Amino acid sequence: MSLIFSKWNSLYTGRMKPFAAPSPFSFVLLGASGNLAKLKLYPALYILALKKRFPAQYAIVGYGRTAFDETGFRALVEESVHTQLPEVNKKVLEEFLTHFHYVQGQYDSAADFSVLSEKLTSLEKEWKDAVRMAYLSIPPKIFSQVLTNMCAGGAHCKTIPFRCIVEKPVGHDLKSFEEIREQLHKHFKDEEIYLLDHYLGKEAVRNIYYLRFANPVLERLFKNSLIHHVEVTAMESYGLEGRAGYFEHTGTLRDMFQSHLLMMIGLLTMHIRETEAAIRESRLHAVGQLYIPPAADLNEVVLQAQYANGKVHGETVVGYREEESIPETSRVNTFAAMKLMSRESRWQGVPFYLRSGKRLGKKETRISIQFQEPHAVGEGSAPNRLDIILQGEAGMRIYLQTKIGGTTPAFRSLLLEDPLVCIGDCLPEHGLLLLEAIHGKQTWFLTFDEVRTSWRLIDPIQHHLERETTPLFTYPAGSTGPEEADVWLGKDGVKWML
Ligand code: BG6
Repeated sequence: MSLIFSKWNSLYTGRMKPFAAPSPFSFVLLGASGNLAKLKLYPALYILALKKRFPAQYAIVGYGRTAFDETGFRALVEESVHTQLPEVNKKVLEEFLTHFHYVQGQYDSAADFSVLSEKLTSLEKEWKDAVRMAYLSIPPKIFSQVLTNMCAGGAHCKTIPFRCIVEKPVGHDLKSFEEIREQLHKHFKDEEIYLLDHYLGKEAVRNIYYLRFANPVLERLFKNSLIHHVEVTAMESYGLEGRAGYFEHTGTLRDMFQSHLLMMIGLLTMHIRETEAAIRESRLHAVGQLYIPPAADLNEVVLQAQYANGKVHGETVVGYREEESIPETSRVNTFAAMKLMSRESRWQGVPFYLRSGKRLGKKETRISIQFQEPHAVGEGSAPNRLDIILQGEAGMRIYLQTKIGGTTPAFRSLLLEDPLVCIGDCLPEHGLLLLEAIHGKQTWFLTFDEVRTSWRLIDPIQHHLERETTPLFTYPAGSTGPEEADVWLGKDGVKWML
């Protein structure tokens, strides 16, 4: 197997021109010592450097309140790369680190942002056709002052192409989203704003769309007369990963459903478009067609739970309420399940069951489509099914049935599968999206309308979950979720698929 893949890999990488930054750039990271930067951004940037995707002239400038000198900041980046990646090329890392700089400053001080601006100007002095980017990895409540001061201090100026990158969730609800949108629009033009959901940078997630685009035969099967239901699961074995403050304020419904899961469904249900440019519009339309089926009681369409202590991968872990900085009385969900429908004509009437949770037994992100059984088949048979497993044991699996020997028709499952390994020019999701931002390519960034639509869908459900009277179930860490989620789904005559 691996021989075949390495042959494909060289074939495909040889054929395609690697995607690289076309010109010098400076990249300002606000929240430079935060979790996201350490877990995702520095390792992704290092991989881009390793794969030679950067020009000779570039600068990555951390800005934050923490007191660092350049050496201290570079040590933090170095540690993050070593911690997150199994193998590091010493020479590449050394050169990469020379591009890192740090400016200590307050978020509410225009004067401090002027220092940042001077630093950028001096770094970019000799560069031609430079692009400047600011990545906001900071709590939304300080966005407004940061944007105002960044512009007043001159870090955003009209003479250099600028990109402002904002990580999801954009806002905390519809209202705070609109406030952030207004602030962003006050300072920047649409083409300067990049709303990032890192799932849209994952090759496997983009492939949900491209599997349909490239396989008309598959596409013919995606219609309501043939599909019984769709399951979208995003299980995580991780817990809070040092983000208790963020998570306690957010919960699983906002953290995973509001963008990641809805985007996955958008890619599955959107109209196929011939040009890449139309993908964004079509995805927006599909997300806009999603709705919560009418129910006498919202508990029929959503369920929440919180993890209790248990064992994950053989290790004993504490329950959510015993985690550091989490109140003993917290009612924040770490697991949620929800039912959705789509108004897209070919999906009308097909239920989508979504679930996601932290501290479950394994990491798995999957879309499973179960087809209708128009007639009884016989002993041992099961409905046809298509799994697209994006993370975990990734792969595409089609479950068919084949007759076993004997005079009465009896069946066994026949499994067709491919591991969907990314071959060719595979980049980490944040790395790919950053390169696309440098190129000014917004296809795989969220639109404001998408985010607004998602909050409109999520807000009423979130309000319901926050009510004291709404049940909050528990599940042992390391399990597949609360038993109540099986009963909840069972009421529709359905079972979770794996
Ligand atoms: C982030 C969430 O957006 O996605 C995290 O804030 C979650 O809580 C993460 O763990 C999951 O991403 P991935 O790439 O590990 O599936």
